[in-house]
Amino acid sequence: MTPFRWRDNLSLDVPAVDKDHRHLIDLLNRLRYMALAGDDRQAVGDVLWELVQYTAEHFTREEMLMRLSGYPGYKAHRHIHDNLRQRVADLYTEYRRVPATFDVQEFYQFLADWLLMHILGEDMKIKPYVEKLAEARAA
Ligand SMILES: [Fe+2]
Ligand SMILES: [Fe+2]
Repeated sequence: MTPFRWRDNLSLDVPAVDKDHRHLIDLLNRLRYMALAGDDRQAVGDVLWELVQYTAEHFTREEMLMRLSGYPGYKAHRHIHDNLRQRVADLYTEYRRVPATFDVQEFYQFLADWLLMHILGEDMKIKPYVEKLAEARAA
């Protein structure tokens, strides 16, 4: 379970999106640290909930940018977001049901891997469209 380090190739050069991604990475690292330190379940649960909420918020912001910029892959990207939104909500329900046996490390690894691949593979595709949008707004 290695920490999730921000690296420059994760940047879309879109400040609003980069800021969200960095915040998600921070939350994931906080969760990882708590899991390793054996922090109490209530505190872990609070960070889990923050992650569930912030993931949803971030997706909404990203989807708005995709629509505004006329990104042609919007529907497919939205579908990927919907699946993950559902997945993390289900995992959170699992945690709530039996906090003591919930595998926080597994949750961390799942979401960290997912986010890394998603930023590099999917979010990166919206970069040129969102950049054009920013240019048009500046003109
Ligand atoms: Fe994203
Ligand atoms: Fe995305």
